[in-house]
Amino acid sequence: KELIAEAEAFSAQSKDEIEAFRIKYLGSKGLTRKYFSEISKIAAENRKEFGQIVNKLKVTAEDKVNSLKEAIESQEEDKGIYGDLSRPGEPIALGARHPISIVKNQIIDIFSRIGFNVSEGPEIEDDWHNFTALNLPEYHPARDMQDTFFIQTDPDILLRTHTSSVQVRYMENNKPPIRTISPGRVYRNEAISARSHCFFHQVEGLYIDKDVSFADLKQTLQYFTTEMFGKSKIRLRPSYFPFTEPSAEVDVYWGLETETDYKITKGTGWLEIMGCGMVDPNVLENCGIDSKEYSGFAFGMGIDRIAMLLNQISDIRLLSENDVRFLEQFKSVL
Ligand code: PHE
Repeated sequence: KELIAEAEAFSAQSKDEIEAFRIKYLGSKGLTRKYFSEISKIAAENRKEFGQIVNKLKVTAEDKVNSLKEAIESQEEDKGIYGDLSRPGEPIALGARHPISIVKNQIIDIFSRIGFNVSEGPEIEDDWHNFTALNLPEYHPARDMQDTFFIQTDPDILLRTHTSSVQVRYMENNKPPIRTISPGRVYRNEAISARSHCFFHQVEGLYIDKDVSFADLKQTLQYFTTEMFGKSKIRLRPSYFPFTEPSAEVDVYWGLETETDYKITKGTGWLEIMGCGMVDPNVLENCGIDSKEYSGFAFGMGIDRIAMLLNQISDIRLLSENDVRFLEQFKSVL
């Protein structure tokens, strides 16, 4: 009976201790075997009680071994040593796509459906690709339209002010027909405020083929704004860019009659979203394309502006501050 109490009180920290306990009580040379084998030596009238006690000892020891083993195993499972590999894992915190990437991908998707590919080029450019080839020779007053960051003291090396430089590179290396869009980051030496930054993102488009007309340009832009903003009105206002002739600014009507027709309902009237025009023959010739055989159009838009309009972001700086409280809000968007 004392042994039963002792067995009941037993506790163990390790599997080895449990095993030692098991051998002591239940092993082939253990206590219960020993007492059972001695049962014949017990006086006949006490045998029944003796047998019951020994049996109780055996059951108690067995229960103890099982429960201790279970306890230790579940402890180990918690520690992940022999964890249940079929259990669901810890949830993984997913990031969100950046609003600039979301809009950029949408624009790429829309233009790729009508046969435009994507081209990229360096952010550090030379004067030729950013200006001169685009019909902006040295001392051309329009160079002041885009305040430029120069790299150290070399006036020939600069941070590109637009991705038109990529279009020059593309024309130099590819024969028409050309249908390409060039997304990327551009830099301008401007005071940083809620509305403008010293770097932002553009997508510029270029289409060169035989007999490309201004009507093709307008229809392409209408297709784009409809895909991007829903059913929408556009307006082309005459403008000036050195690399296109004629040139226009594109406005989209923002703030429209019915919720169902339009994705944007909070706006107010016409909003400028891009510049465009027919590629100047000088630019084609600078890039080795015969301007008598080919014509084309180009357009360029700021991704940041569009992302801000679509998501009602009031300050452009939010787009580059990497504040997770801001970025997390785009989790549900693909
Ligand atoms: N490159 C111009 C800009 O950055 C945009 C543009 C592109 C205008 C193509 C006309 C044609 O402002």
